[in-house]
Amino acid sequence: MNILNTSGYEMYQSNMTKGDDCFVIDHNGKKYLDFESGVWALPLGHNNQRINTTITNQLNQLVHVGYRYSHPVVEEAAKALMQIMNLEGGKCLFLSSGSEAVEFSLKIVKRITDKPYLLSLDKHYLSAYGVSGDTTSDNWITIDWQSCVTEKHNNYETFLEDIPFDKICAFVFEPGNASGTAKLPPTELITRLASKVKEHNGWIVIDEVTTGMGRTGKWFGYENFDIKPDLIACGKGLGNGYPVSAVGISEEVATLLEQTNFTYAQSHQNDPLGCAVAKEVITIMKDDFLLEKSLEKGMYLKDAMMKLSDKHKIVKEVRGIGLMCAMEFDDSISATGLCDIHRKLFDAGFIVGIKPAANTMRFYPPLTIEKYMIDDMIRALDIILLEEK
Ligand SMILES: Cc1ncc(COP(=O)(O)O)c(C=O)c1O
Repeated sequence: MNILNTSGYEMYQSNMTKGDDCFVIDHNGKKYLDFESGVWALPLGHNNQRINTTITNQLNQLVHVGYRYSHPVVEEAAKALMQIMNLEGGKCLFLSSGSEAVEFSLKIVKRITDKPYLLSLDKHYLSAYGVSGDTTSDNWITIDWQSCVTEKHNNYETFLEDIPFDKICAFVFEPGNASGTAKLPPTELITRLASKVKEHNGWIVIDEVTTGMGRTGKWFGYENFDIKPDLIACGKGLGNGYPVSAVGISEEVATLLEQTNFTYAQSHQNDPLGCAVAKEVITIMKDDFLLEKSLEKGMYLKDAMMKLSDKHKIVKEVRGIGLMCAMEFDDSISATGLCDIHRKLFDAGFIVGIKPAANTMRFYPPLTIEKYMIDDMIRALDIILLEEK
């Protein structure tokens, strides 16, 4: 094999040859229901024909062009994105990956304020590299919100007192994917953190790379909280598998930024091809009512998972919002045991996610998932869990 596997994940099947909506198909024609949407990046499912047509049309026009030139689809995509982000009047930049979008957002806030620290919730993955790739570094203050919630801390007051808000440049909030565990922090805590940061002239940066594009039943996960973002980083679902990401910037931040001599230039920013895909993803999501479907199918999935949880005592907790669902097991299931369940599900034709360190199995399917597909997966999981007894 010449491919360097750096992902940390074992390769199960290197001969996947086709995608078809919620299914991936291997070289033998075996179908696997993809409850991970690739790497949580396919709101429209695999091999979407409207996206394929858009790509073909754009390929035949203009894929990439220099910084001094543009294609109309770039501005059209920006307009559509700023509208769903509720940042009309602001600006946006199209980039190539979620990590780049988050990292770029931090470059912006660092440029318009000189406060030293960034604030985030602990164990939240923000990026593969850079400042946002290491939230344990001195740049960051991270909040152990789960212990704070358990202890309640007089309505968070004592807890908030310990945070040096006057030194916080931005609150970088990832609204609930929580490194693939679907753990949503309490709304009230987030509202209080955000308002304290704003009171001290800090900025609110939202990492919507996973929670964006309908994953939680709304365009963006931050809409489940009572906060107003200054910058929004999104990726993954925006390109439905094509590597395009974006940062939406409020009018206020864009104005401040434009007063500095900030520059950022990478070869593929605002490429017409990525922008054509992003614009079409947004259009299809509207045409096909995928936000509504995410909510409806998400409730159906969560309900089915709750029923499994009633039946199998090893299930400790079921969590979910929209089509971002997780099932946590108790300590009687070891990390190896969870990996075995995962493998058995795969062999039975179901791709789901696991996070062994958190004893958690997760389900983030395309928003096009059908009820019968959910039933099939739940039935297979039920049989496998029965064997665990
Ligand atoms: C919340 C969050 N932010 C950022 C990223 C990084 O995105 P990418 O892998 O596209 O660089 C991820 C990736 O999983 C993520 O889940």
